[in-house]
Amino acid sequence: MWKLAIDLGSSVTKIYRADTNNGIVLVEPSCVAVSGAEESVRAWGREAKNLIGKTADCTSVVYPVFEGEIVRPRLAAEMLTEFLQRVGVKKSAFRRAQILMGIPCGASQATVNAYVNLAEECGLKNVFFVEQPYLVATSVGATVGSFEPVFCLDIGGGTTNVAVVSVDGIISGLSMNIGGNNMDLSIRMDIQEHNRLQIGALTAERLKNELVNLSPTAMGAMVAEGCSVDSYRPASSSIRAQEIRSCVTRYLDKVVEYATMVIRNLPAEVAAIVNRNGVYLSGGVMKIPGVASYIGERLEMRYFVSEEPQFSTAQGAGALLRDKDLLRSFAKEID
Ligand SMILES: Nc1ncnc2c1ncn2[C@@H]1O[C@H](COP(=O)(O)OP(=O)(O)OP(=O)(O)O)[C@@H](O)[C@H]1O
Ligand SMILES: [Mg+2]
Repeated sequence: MWKLAIDLGSSVTKIYRADTNNGIVLVEPSCVAVSGAEESVRAWGREAKNLIGKTADCTSVVYPVFEGEIVRPRLAAEMLTEFLQRVGVKKSAFRRAQILMGIPCGASQATVNAYVNLAEECGLKNVFFVEQPYLVATSVGATVGSFEPVFCLDIGGGTTNVAVVSVDGIISGLSMNIGGNNMDLSIRMDIQEHNRLQIGALTAERLKNELVNLSPTAMGAMVAEGCSVDSYRPASSSIRAQEIRSCVTRYLDKVVEYATMVIRNLPAEVAAIVNRNGVYLSGGVMKIPGVASYIGERLEMRYFVSEEPQFSTAQGAGALLRDKDLLRSFAKEID
């Protein structure tokens, strides 16, 4: 029987296969390109993302999940159905497949319902829903037997989750709409203002992921191509890593501020454990060089980050599908 863990991220969907040793079997941008009044889907995932900023008026690229919320239910269902089929699941096997789907930390009843409806719309009948911090905690080896509270901090494309997780619940936590997308936008605005150059969303994301390095001695530079704000003609400009560093750090500073609030709300015993064990960092933004140490230093805490932090949630979800006891305590009761 298929056992699949789905991390339907605001930016990237990851699917982990837990009934074999295959691990992560799908990584695709969570977007579709749609056209016409009926919004029929023309392209999915990577192919759709490549069209951003390049389409004619009648086509647009849509992210059906925005900051953790399912904002376009029909497109979300079509996208998830397509991704599951790409993994090899036939439509006729959807109803029997065992699925674990991550949902935002502290999701309201309306949000949970939206995820339940999404699963139903796809024809999935055997689905567990688990709040994301539990998944990250599982990825770092939490088990029912030996369970000390785990402090997790995940910065994705649209949201940041900060939580101290224990086996019987989230002791303190919050979710905020800060993520890589804010940093991309900030890079676009800064370059427009300081270099008089308008750049596209994909170029901004590339600058963030390939140029930004928070080390104070980082020296890199990259040429950004776009359009001059003054002459409206194609133009390019050389951007130094140091010039756009603050587009990333201004959001990290906010995350640190909120994470500090979460720590302050902890009971003394738990605070002591967290202080001793440190913080587990995950999410794609941790791939940017220097981000993890920047956060760790400001929280004045030991920090851990896996080699592929963008997959921590999906990997934890996969591990959870294999651990019935832990799954039972973490899965959300659905009425
Ligand atoms: N090497 C990288 N690989 C993937 N994403 C990266 C990398 N470097 C930086 N990022 C950024 O990380 C973000 C995506 O992270 P992640 O996949 O954790 O988000 P998500 O799970 O889709 O979103 P969310 O958790 O907010 O719903 C994007 O802003 C992306 O640009
Ligand atoms: Mg995520």
